[in-house]
Amino acid sequence: MVGPSGRQAADANCTVKLPATSLPKDNVKVLLLENINQTAIEIFKAEGFQLETASGALAPEELEERIKDVHVLGIRSKMQLPGSALQHASKLLAVGCFCIGTNQVDLEAANAVGIPVFNAPFSNTRSVAELVICEVIALARQLGDRSSELHRGTWKKVSKGCYEVRGKTLGIVGYGHIGSQVGVLAEMLGMKVKFFDIASKMPMGNNAPVESLKELLSGSDFVTLHVPASEATTNMISRWELMHMRKGSYLINASRGQVVDLASLAESIKSGRIAGAAVDVYPTEPEKNSDGFQTELQGVPNVILTPHIGGSTEEAQAAIGREVAYALVKYVNTGSTAGAVNFPQMDFPTLPGSHRILNVHQNVPGVLKNVNNIIADLNVNIKAQVNVTDSNIGYLVMDLEKDLSHEVEAALRDLPTSIKTRILY
Ligand SMILES: NC(=O)c1ccc[n+]([C@@H]2O[C@H](COP(=O)([O-])OP(=O)(O)OC[C@H]3O[C@@H](n4cnc5c(N)ncnc54)[C@H](O)[C@@H]3O)[C@@H](O)[C@H]2O)c1
Repeated sequence: MVGPSGRQAADANCTVKLPATSLPKDNVKVLLLENINQTAIEIFKAEGFQLETASGALAPEELEERIKDVHVLGIRSKMQLPGSALQHASKLLAVGCFCIGTNQVDLEAANAVGIPVFNAPFSNTRSVAELVICEVIALARQLGDRSSELHRGTWKKVSKGCYEVRGKTLGIVGYGHIGSQVGVLAEMLGMKVKFFDIASKMPMGNNAPVESLKELLSGSDFVTLHVPASEATTNMISRWELMHMRKGSYLINASRGQVVDLASLAESIKSGRIAGAAVDVYPTEPEKNSDGFQTELQGVPNVILTPHIGGSTEEAQAAIGREVAYALVKYVNTGSTAGAVNFPQMDFPTLPGSHRILNVHQNVPGVLKNVNNIIADLNVNIKAQVNVTDSNIGYLVMDLEKDLSHEVEAALRDLPTSIKTRILY
């Protein structure tokens, strides 16, 4: 049957013998651009795949040339992958975005030619959570201001308006991957933790859900935001919400730039209602480090400004390398599309003693009827059959007896509705 998962194969202590696959592992070509982390390189090497790397993004013509021969392409955020480039990629099986966003890829075009795209949306969760905890203490002690004063040669030793965080209440808006991590860490500091989420969430430790945003705002000494960008979260914290926060409380936003109305925030800190804020994300952010930056919050007391670095740590980069490389290896070896951003999701274990056929097809009526006719005509025994679809394509996965698997694969490949077909054994 197909090779083991990437995790097994990459494990140095793993003694599992890799069985042959329909596409021998040393024929699988991986092209990694933009200095992708070493953790990913080690995983592909351990798997026995061929590996080419480049430190930067490629010019469009060079990409089109190099992509022709490649089975797996790994990029980060700068390499644009338009639909036109995918037309040249007849061997391409999958794309890995070794980052959080996938805007640089024409996801629809990739879907239409049967190429799943993977990313790593949660690899930097812990990094963001740690920054937020650091900011809770830094705001309570006015650390940002004290540090800049001393850099300017001003010694200002004060205790007025500076607090311990033990016993204070942290209110978390959005109790997902990051919000819940922040809740766990905050309790370790002796804080009380409340959260508000539109979905029902299992509380960690003694974290307690509240019924409304207003209840959270009025009952918290610190409010930290961990919601996605959406219509509902645009300007979610504005003048009215700031008025309903406790006097002397603090606001932290490391989620998305449009969640907070920064002009109202600046106003409420200057008026003394809010005691400080830490902001990592902005409605518009510079594209390059060399571009200038302006915000209403510059020069406002006890405001910590950071340039969208919440998830930027060495550990997060390594975790992104691992997460995306494992997903790509698993897709090559088993056809699992779990976590793909543009593809129907399929992740079921391979059955010993069978061959697996993967068929991406147009999602039009009659496909399964034609597939089942082929199976009936060839008198093949199917052990498992799953078809998952989105609005454009269907992804059919079949585990079947070995004897006639190649005949089935060839017949499926010939169906006019088929986009991509491959066999794993
Ligand atoms: N600063 C950075 O560098 C950085 C890094 C990673 C993620 N982020 C951002 O952090 C945010 C949270 O990321 P995550 O991984 O925890 O996401 P997540 O999807 O795991 O959690 C988001 C939570 O918000 C909840 N939610 C959605 N709409 C809501 C609303 N209107 N009111 C209350 N709750 C709502 C969801 O139900 C979910 O539980 C995202 O916006 C993400 O883009 C920032």
